[in-house]
Amino acid sequence: MDHFTYQDGILHAEHVPLPEIAASVGTPFYCYSAATLTRHYQVFAEAFREIPTLICFAVKANGNLAVLRTLARLGAGADTVSEGEIRKALAAGVPPQKIVFSGVGKTRGEMRFALKSGIGQFNVESPEELEILSEEAVAHGGKARVTIRVNPDVDAGSHDKISTGRKTDKFGVAWESVLPSSARARVLPGIRIVGVTCHIGSQLTKLEPFRAAFARIVHLVKELRAGGHTIEVLDLGGGLGIPYDSAKEIPPLPADYARMVLDQVQHLGCKLMLEPGRLIAGNAGILVARVVLTKRTPHRTFVIVDAGMNDLMRPSLYDAWHEILPVKEANGDASPVDVVGPVCETADVFGKQRLLPAMQPGDLLAFRSCGAYGASMASTYNARLLVPEVMAHGDAFHIIRARQSYEAMLASDSIPSWLE
Ligand code: LLP
Repeated sequence: MDHFTYQDGILHAEHVPLPEIAASVGTPFYCYSAATLTRHYQVFAEAFREIPTLICFAVKANGNLAVLRTLARLGAGADTVSEGEIRKALAAGVPPQKIVFSGVGKTRGEMRFALKSGIGQFNVESPEELEILSEEAVAHGGKARVTIRVNPDVDAGSHDKISTGRKTDKFGVAWESVLPSSARARVLPGIRIVGVTCHIGSQLTKLEPFRAAFARIVHLVKELRAGGHTIEVLDLGGGLGIPYDSAKEIPPLPADYARMVLDQVQHLGCKLMLEPGRLIAGNAGILVARVVLTKRTPHRTFVIVDAGMNDLMRPSLYDAWHEILPVKEANGDASPVDVVGPVCETADVFGKQRLLPAMQPGDLLAFRSCGAYGASMASTYNARLLVPEVMAHGDAFHIIRARQSYEAMLASDSIPSWLE
């Protein structure tokens, strides 16, 4: 459930009409709903109330400080993958001990920053990384709290490019190498192994792959304990999918996911950690664009909007499907059109053969389910400005990131002296 609904024929974010935001900030823009973010977090957290659980929002899904602050206020921690994301989480008010640092390629500089910041946990993805982290932790004067990220060799059954748990993927320590790696970690002076973690992919719409991966994790926890390790943390990653097209895919509800998790792991007595991104933010945000013109050829009708693949990469990168709605509700005839952006790439398509009413220049369209991996993946390709982000809250809205300016865009390049 979200808070983007038609009221008197106009699409609203909570109680704010989207044309009012468009008039204020121009188009395109991202718009989030504070109430939806809050609700998604609370429904997920509630599902795990039976055991101590820390929910670390995956910052990569949406790193806007206002989004992170909204979730931090509710008690969320942060799953981060770079110094930038750690800085964002800290700036948003996430307590350092609730910050997890994941990723296959943490640099020494990033490790040092994380150690200095006092973050709660490093999710380590290779034996090589263990050695480097140990050196840095010793230099820092302590031990890093570490979970080993296990690659359980389970296919998430999601899009190939967002599946991470197969043995040929770059993520995690191969499950059969976890015991030797942990044994080595015990003698490393800068490492304290506290648990295990896994994340097999994103936008999973079935429970089965999770179940298979977690079964392997449970088995490993028992083996690690038998080997003398104190395993107190189980970080089960993110990945639960959301309905982009509710006619086609209905992912498990958080309650069903939680039941499956608890049934499998509760007996271990570990503190549970989860790293949802999309589930919290995906349907809490939309992208609003304006129609530039409708182009008719003998073969196709193209509705060309002022947002491009640089603003929302998911359709071009993963063939992702996002619902496209006219902001002004239309009940008349609809015909199939291709909704495309202005970027000079054939891949700059938001939707093919979508049924939409006749669109005039200036009309507004909303792309749903863009709160996760929308703004956070945007680029300035084709020298297009990063678009603003707005958060609606009841009948008010706030610009939580202003549109980039052309001055800032030009000022970021510099011409060498020999060209002056
Ligand atoms: N934890 C780790 C270690 C991750 O790598 C990810 C996502 C998450 C948590 C959060 O996963 P979620 O709950 O959001 O599924 N750009 C792609 C998604 C890439 C996800 C990468 N890792 C997309 O737009 O579909």
